[in-house]
Amino acid sequence: MNPRTPAFPSKTPHMGTTIFTVMSALATEKGAVNLGQGFPDFACDPRLIEHVTDAMREGHNQYPPMTGVAPLREAVAAKIKTLYGRHYDPVNEITVTAGATQAILTAILAIVHPGDEVIVLEPCYDSYVPNIELAGGVVVRVPLTPGTFRPDFDKIQAALTPRTRAILINSPHNPSGMVWTREEMLRLQEILDPTDVLLISDEVYEHMVYAPLQHWSAAQFGGLAARAFIVSSFGKTYHVTGWKIGTVAAPAALSAEFRKIHQFNVFTVNTPMQHGLAHYMANPRPYLELPAFYQRKRDLFRAGLSNTRFRLLPGEGTYFQCVDISGLAVPEKDLGEAAFCQWLTTEVGVAAIPLSAFYGNGFDQKVIRFCFAKKDETLQLALERLARL
Ligand SMILES: Cc1ncc(COP(=O)(O)O)c(C=O)c1O
Repeated sequence: MNPRTPAFPSKTPHMGTTIFTVMSALATEKGAVNLGQGFPDFACDPRLIEHVTDAMREGHNQYPPMTGVAPLREAVAAKIKTLYGRHYDPVNEITVTAGATQAILTAILAIVHPGDEVIVLEPCYDSYVPNIELAGGVVVRVPLTPGTFRPDFDKIQAALTPRTRAILINSPHNPSGMVWTREEMLRLQEILDPTDVLLISDEVYEHMVYAPLQHWSAAQFGGLAARAFIVSSFGKTYHVTGWKIGTVAAPAALSAEFRKIHQFNVFTVNTPMQHGLAHYMANPRPYLELPAFYQRKRDLFRAGLSNTRFRLLPGEGTYFQCVDISGLAVPEKDLGEAAFCQWLTTEVGVAAIPLSAFYGNGFDQKVIRFCFAKKDETLQLALERLARL
């Protein structure tokens, strides 16, 4: 016998390791301040941990219902009603997922047939394209306006065809920090109105929008909500990205298809976290206070960067700040964004993410992304190191 792994064709020959994993590994290896991958370096509220611990002690340790535990689905429905004014039935229209990543993949697998076109607005979060390809869909890339990252509705309109199954939007937007306005949401609604195009609205940064702006959810627009999977993530909102837990709100017909895939994918999401989160959500203050919490960090980080040669791009929402590197005094500014980020991590000791990683064709506009969801001292240390550029 000759034990060997048989040769087999890769289903995803072009798929590599995500840039976030690559840069985080490099940051660890080089001892760099990691402003690359988007996660907080500070603790979550200890009360949240207590609630989860209590849930475990109370015996909430077996499979929950496939759609999520009722108290959490009810808490999410109540929150959407309060914040965005739309009623979602917690029984048929809210599903608890293993984070937004699983939610987006599940939504795509549920609706995209081989050959269906799905529009993404680039730059976009790196799971969208592989998800569509895995479902056999055809990715249609529409660029956000270079420089401002605002949606270009003429281009979106032009990309719609009879084969378009869905469009994916993300506001507040990773990586640019741009936040869709009410007018932009209305315009999308108008464009989609005569079509059967479905919407996946990735709203994981919904509680990170900075004054005087506000988040506009697809839930607030009847014509969008009726065709939308609205994706949220507790990881972002409660500083627990490692818990990988989120929700999808969608009309019953969409939720029913979503759940068919969900049940044979993860089936359920861990029980004690769901009970802990449901308990914690009874108090709205943590998410209502989140914008002020992150706005202070954004302002601190922006103030520090304004003393450097990095050119700040607007930071309307999310915990990301993009900067243009073309005015730096170092010759490495002429490297591509990716090589510059590697150099920055290795030689300057600060990890960042190149925006080119969010484009299919690697479009290089000399812009990189920092994450400011960090302790003040972490941000100060990074700023000290960046100041010499
Ligand atoms: C735009 C966007 N969507 C989805 C996700 C994934 O969220 P989760 O960790 O809940 O899977 C992220 C995480 O960085 C994100 O930035």
